[in-house]
Amino acid sequence: MITVTVPATSANVGAGFDALGLALSMHNVFTFEECDHIDITSVDGTHVPAGNNNLVYRSARAVYDQLGIPLPGLRITQKNDIPMARGLGSSSACIVAGILGANALLGGRLTRRQMLTLATAIEGHPDNVAPAMLGGFVTSVYDEGQVYTVKKDIDEALAFAAFVPDFPLLTAKARAALPQMVSHKDAVYNLSRAALATAAFCDGDYELLGVATKDALHQSYRLPLIPGGDELFDFALDLGALAVYISGAGPTIMAVVRRSDKNFFERAAAALPRHETLKAFTVHRLLADNAGAAVQVT
Ligand code: HSE
Repeated sequence: MITVTVPATSANVGAGFDALGLALSMHNVFTFEECDHIDITSVDGTHVPAGNNNLVYRSARAVYDQLGIPLPGLRITQKNDIPMARGLGSSSACIVAGILGANALLGGRLTRRQMLTLATAIEGHPDNVAPAMLGGFVTSVYDEGQVYTVKKDIDEALAFAAFVPDFPLLTAKARAALPQMVSHKDAVYNLSRAALATAAFCDGDYELLGVATKDALHQSYRLPLIPGGDELFDFALDLGALAVYISGAGPTIMAVVRRSDKNFFERAAAALPRHETLKAFTVHRLLADNAGAAVQVT
């Protein structure tokens, strides 16, 4: 049996729309066995599609198709700790798991680069699948069907406060809220900050993250879809967060904090229920996952 463990991911990191992402200490676990039919089980009661439209199965089948190998069926189990449709990379976890699981069942014929390219083709952009596969902080470019990445381990000095609401937001809806065209000024605003954020993570200069994660391309268009989101930015900054941004397409709001700031999480958890607009959010203390997806053969 093949067991694949995949981390949650937080894409965009503010200015790095469709380009930056990081992996976190929250995981989904999947098992794979070859079988003569499709048998998909969720081991924690989360509803998942049980037929050939299941994203894990579809992603596994893409590996068989790429290699020209017939796939009679698969037995898959899913343990889903990453909340769905919350901007924490649950879909990417399914895609990465399906690809890694199928590749392991077939004896490891695809390279990591080929698997990352396939995962990006399925997802449409690399900023979740790349950190899900590689771990750490990853900067990615998808150019003419090829993915180019640089991964950097995230310093132990950082922790991440995921403010997860009790309502979902589908990525398709959050992408539909974006304008077709942006101004040259806004493009420069973001490219300079995405570059600064990358350099800040590489150099350990975390005081820069506040300005480096500001954005003009997507967050202001998406915040109206996230009731309480605006207030949460101020709330987390007032509590001492280094930076706050919408995680992926939302609706989770992510705050970057110093791990030494022990009080941040206690104060946030105590204060959230007292704010009418923030009641829907629960704060989760997460650390970086610098290892990325893991495959175990038993
Ligand atoms: N970069 C993507 C977005 C991440 O913001 O739409 C979510 O899939």
